[in-house]
Amino acid sequence: MSLSLNYKNTLKFINEYEMGYLESSAVEANKLLHSKKGAGNKFLGWLDLPTKALKEADKINKLAKEIRENADVLVVIGIGGSYLGSRAVIDAFTSNFSEAKKGSPKVIFAGQNMSGQYHKELIEYLDGKDFYINIISKSGTTTEPAIAFRLLKEYAELRYKGDAKKRIIATTDKKRGALKTMSTENKYRTFVIEDDIGGRFSVLTPVGLLPIAVAGIDIVALLNGAIKMANVTKGDKFQKNPAMLYAMLRNALYNKGFTTEIMVNYVPRMFYISEWWKQLYGESEGKDNKGIFPAAVNFSTDLHSLGQYIQDGRRNIFETVISINKENVDLSIKTADSDLDGLNYLSGLNMHEINKTALEATVLAHIDGGVPNIILDVDKITASSIGELIYFFEKACGISGYMLGVNPFDQEGVEAYKKNMFALLGKKGYEDLAKELRGRK
Ligand code: PA5
Repeated sequence: MSLSLNYKNTLKFINEYEMGYLESSAVEANKLLHSKKGAGNKFLGWLDLPTKALKEADKINKLAKEIRENADVLVVIGIGGSYLGSRAVIDAFTSNFSEAKKGSPKVIFAGQNMSGQYHKELIEYLDGKDFYINIISKSGTTTEPAIAFRLLKEYAELRYKGDAKKRIIATTDKKRGALKTMSTENKYRTFVIEDDIGGRFSVLTPVGLLPIAVAGIDIVALLNGAIKMANVTKGDKFQKNPAMLYAMLRNALYNKGFTTEIMVNYVPRMFYISEWWKQLYGESEGKDNKGIFPAAVNFSTDLHSLGQYIQDGRRNIFETVISINKENVDLSIKTADSDLDGLNYLSGLNMHEINKTALEATVLAHIDGGVPNIILDVDKITASSIGELIYFFEKACGISGYMLGVNPFDQEGVEAYKKNMFALLGKKGYEDLAKELRGRK
């Protein structure tokens, strides 16, 4: 495996025997997932997904090839689980300064916010560039992507006239929702999101795989990495099952009052991995007045903003630190004739070593400050290791949610703001709620 967990820095905060108490609960939770008898068991399609998804890889790669040849830009429209997974994987492999061009199109995102400025700027950015649109919505009714799609479809029709339809791909439910109806009506090419897969667990379906393939990432290697992790996390010995171990550690720390988990990254390309993880854990565990609050930081950047709080503020934080062992680039510090900046003591060191040292130094400082650390070692960023990482977090999330005593696979809380928004925007059927809300304003 490319991935391993090191939890020695939590042992000052939790005892081995506490892990012992949690072991049976983790074994039970893992069994409950596989027997499909637990809460939310209609949404466990992600468990065997990587193997199933391999069958669709050729179809996805074929369409990705067409898009790569004919587009400078792919606009992915979606929100939450319908965009975070693909964005996380794509960013992990894409230059921070990539350009839009045929052969290697830039994948950009829309419909994940309702800012008029953002979408206006996006349409202006597309001016003079060839583009395809991948509209993704499992329900097919989510407002943010629906609005963005209306705007971008109109622009595509202006640019490509009758051929616009050929440049639109819809990824949605097989039967339900406005997007399904529009796709049938307009004969868009479509991919199906199966009923048994919730949005935040959908990255290894066409939701994530098509944009990822368009970005030139090897989706077969990604899926094979996930398959490896699926096999390893079937077992019930936490010493050999990192998903069980991570779930046990989180719950042990939570029971001790560490109610916020910060995902720590030292590589800007991994920023969206944390964003995806935040949705996965926040939406799965934050219910029934329980759950660890998932937060994320990028170090060393945020050491200069949030570092003070983490070192010295309220002691309810633990960290999960993603440590990449090998970097794909080699950039070393040279000796300068005049050592005016005083950096010659770093001569010969490469940036990766310096960054790793920052990680080690910070981990030690944070332990001294009362912040437990779980270190997630990743050998190198490859399609396979990212596949392992994705499945690892998904599996641990299911186990951890069951250990916490919640249904990790629903998200009813997300509906509350939507109902209010529909009512206040005057959508049919929400008149009574609108009256009540206006009375409260
Ligand atoms: O996890 C979930 O199911 C949600 O957060 C969805 O991902 C998000 O609301 C987007 O929904 P949809 O794909 O139906 O537009």
